[in-house]
Amino acid sequence: MANADQVKALIKCHAEGDDSRFYSVAIQMAAQAAKLGHSRLAEELRTLIDQAKEKGFKRLESNTVHINQPRGELAGLLSVTYPKERLSSVILPENTENRLRRLILEQRQKVKLLENGLTPRRKVLFFGPPGTGKTLTATALAGELHLPLYTILLDGLITKYMGETAAKLRLIFENIDRVRGIYFFDEFDAIGSHRTNSNDVGEIRRVLNSFLQFLEQSNSQSIIIAATNNIDLLDKALFRRFDDIIEYDIPDELLAIETLKNCFSSFDTKCLDYTLLSEKCKNLSFAEICKVCEDTLKQIILDDNNKKLCNDIVINNINERFNTNH
Ligand SMILES: Nc1ncnc2c1ncn2[C@@H]1O[C@H](COP(=O)(O)OP(=O)(O)OP(=O)(O)O)[C@@H](O)[C@H]1O
Ligand SMILES: [Mg+2]
Repeated sequence: MANADQVKALIKCHAEGDDSRFYSVAIQMAAQAAKLGHSRLAEELRTLIDQAKEKGFKRLESNTVHINQPRGELAGLLSVTYPKERLSSVILPENTENRLRRLILEQRQKVKLLENGLTPRRKVLFFGPPGTGKTLTATALAGELHLPLYTILLDGLITKYMGETAAKLRLIFENIDRVRGIYFFDEFDAIGSHRTNSNDVGEIRRVLNSFLQFLEQSNSQSIIIAATNNIDLLDKALFRRFDDIIEYDIPDELLAIETLKNCFSSFDTKCLDYTLLSEKCKNLSFAEICKVCEDTLKQIILDDNNKKLCNDIVINNINERFNTNH
């Protein structure tokens, strides 16, 4: 049975509109009921929680952007979107996709894990070259989990005065604990770097230490994703704080073919030799291949003579855009 503190906490969370804490208390109550052998009550509570969340999200979706818009000082630190992307739209090596699917599963089944004293994965680091899907993955995870995507605005966060930066970081982490969402620290080396051009090394260190501390202390239900092009710049102390560290890379031949096929999927492609084209796309990122496809499709669509999609047009666009002579 619920104890008096839990009932009080529920009422308080409701009054303050703190959904994330409300659900976490409710989940604790379900876990307690299960422990005491009231499995039917535990199951009913879990179903009620899931239904309430589903309704809450639908409400959020219908009001989109207007709700949960960061206000006050937070407005310059976070921007929020409600993505609809799915992981299936990100082309990934099997191993990477499996790791991301595991994170999604653990998040979807978090009640079950928490009841058994386990925490779902929720802190991940993506690293790899530009245009390989790091931001797209963060967006797709938000879409899969029906969570708002909060992107940390580095311009607002990093100021000349590092003491200020640490205080702003605290504000962001308070929001992370208060409002469940996916929090995306892009260009993370700006915070997590062990090297610095600043003379004031001590101050930079303080910002990094604050981040490490907040990351460790934060036991909210939000997901924190950091992304960088430059893993070598990151302080090694960071690595063990993440539940998963996922590498992104430019596509190999098979993934390049998949990207081309994906981009051209609604066009007549019988004249295309994908093996040849993927060879021409060697060393290009996913984003670059997508751009080439986009250039090609625009050309086809706008051509008065009903030009057909063929290898030459694609190859010309590769050469033009990247000035290569593959
Ligand atoms: N793995 C991928 N699968 C499908 N499309 C991709 C993939 N990677 C990149 N793209 C395409 O390129 C665009 C840019 O990719 P994205 O912003 O995710 O790159 P990034 O890894 O975050 O790069 P950066 O390091 O520059 O931030 C995407 O919106 C998408 O159109
Ligand atoms: Mg990015």
